[in-house]
Amino acid sequence: MGESLRFVSQSLEQSDRFGRALAQSLLPGLTVALNGELGAGKTALVRSVSSYLGADPDQVNSPTFVLLQLYVDGRLPVAHFDTYRLGDVDEFLAIGGEDYLLDEETVCFVEWAERISDALPPDHLQIRIAHAGESSRRYEVLAAGPQSRRVLQELDRQFDRSDLSPGFGGTAN
Ligand SMILES: Nc1ncnc2c1ncn2[C@@H]1O[C@H](COP(=O)(O)OP(=O)(O)OP(=O)(O)O)[C@@H](O)[C@H]1O
Ligand SMILES: [Mg+2]
Repeated sequence: MGESLRFVSQSLEQSDRFGRALAQSLLPGLTVALNGELGAGKTALVRSVSSYLGADPDQVNSPTFVLLQLYVDGRLPVAHFDTYRLGDVDEFLAIGGEDYLLDEETVCFVEWAERISDALPPDHLQIRIAHAGESSRRYEVLAAGPQSRRVLQELDRQFDRSDLSPGFGGTAN
């Protein structure tokens, strides 16, 4: 088992199944950095994960205008950031971002995480999503330390890739 997982999802439904596997694999306090262009599926992933944790998926919208949303009804508390409209890392710190990132219980999802990369804990799970067609998306999941590596290993076990097209599924390195 390597330090990354790559696959292509062919539908929102397959992406949702990935979200379920991630929800089953998360550890308290983990930070998940989400990168990918507009409409890649960052918010959709947070919606899937939060709903499988037991929160109300209707609460999960792109927090582009509010910067931060909290979902506290599930198995683990979730903080959902969208840094798209943040000027810089200082603004992220000003809205209390670091308190959530450092909290040992709260799972943090950060859309456009590359914009605040200096503030991310070194050990975080990074998920890159790219368009591969109208309803297909290429996913790359990378671990950067011991906690995120444990989550990635569990994710590898939980995520059923048997229905992904040949040549698309599979674990890299
Ligand atoms: N295979 C797929 N996986 C994920 N989303 C998909 C897939 N196919 C189609 N979609 C659609 O792509 C869109 C993804 O939108 P979403 O708001 O999650 O993107 P985003 O990355 O958060 O964008 P933004 O940067 O604007 O916040 C949704 O409308 C979703 O239904
Ligand atoms: Mg979004």
